[in-house]
Amino acid sequence: MADLAERDATRHRAQLVRAVARDGRAITLTIDGREVAATEDDSVLATILTHGPRLRHLEFGGEPRAGFCLMGACQDCWVWTAQGERLRACTTPVRAGMALLTLPPAFAAPGPFATP
Ligand code: FES
Repeated sequence: MADLAERDATRHRAQLVRAVARDGRAITLTIDGREVAATEDDSVLATILTHGPRLRHLEFGGEPRAGFCLMGACQDCWVWTAQGERLRACTTPVRAGMALLTLPPAFAAPGPFATP
């Protein structure tokens, strides 16, 4: 019962909701330190937005962003690995054990997925 309540709470905060189940290996990774479930080979962007309300914040004004073109052209979906590698979220597939950050590692402030 607690799992259903938790899943419903997550869905209400999510920007995207998967309408149709997709085959694929179930994996876990972290987003801003929070462990989340995903399907291997989903995009980083889809994974982040199915677990939260935004992909990242704009570097210049802080506005919430969710990507724009979703095909690798607009540069609006940069996220980072914990090691500091910058990734284009819409064209990068998720892998088990990834540790993703929605802010550059130099900014240690918690992102939208940080536990309060
Ligand atoms: S959303 Fe445009 S490059 Fe990723």
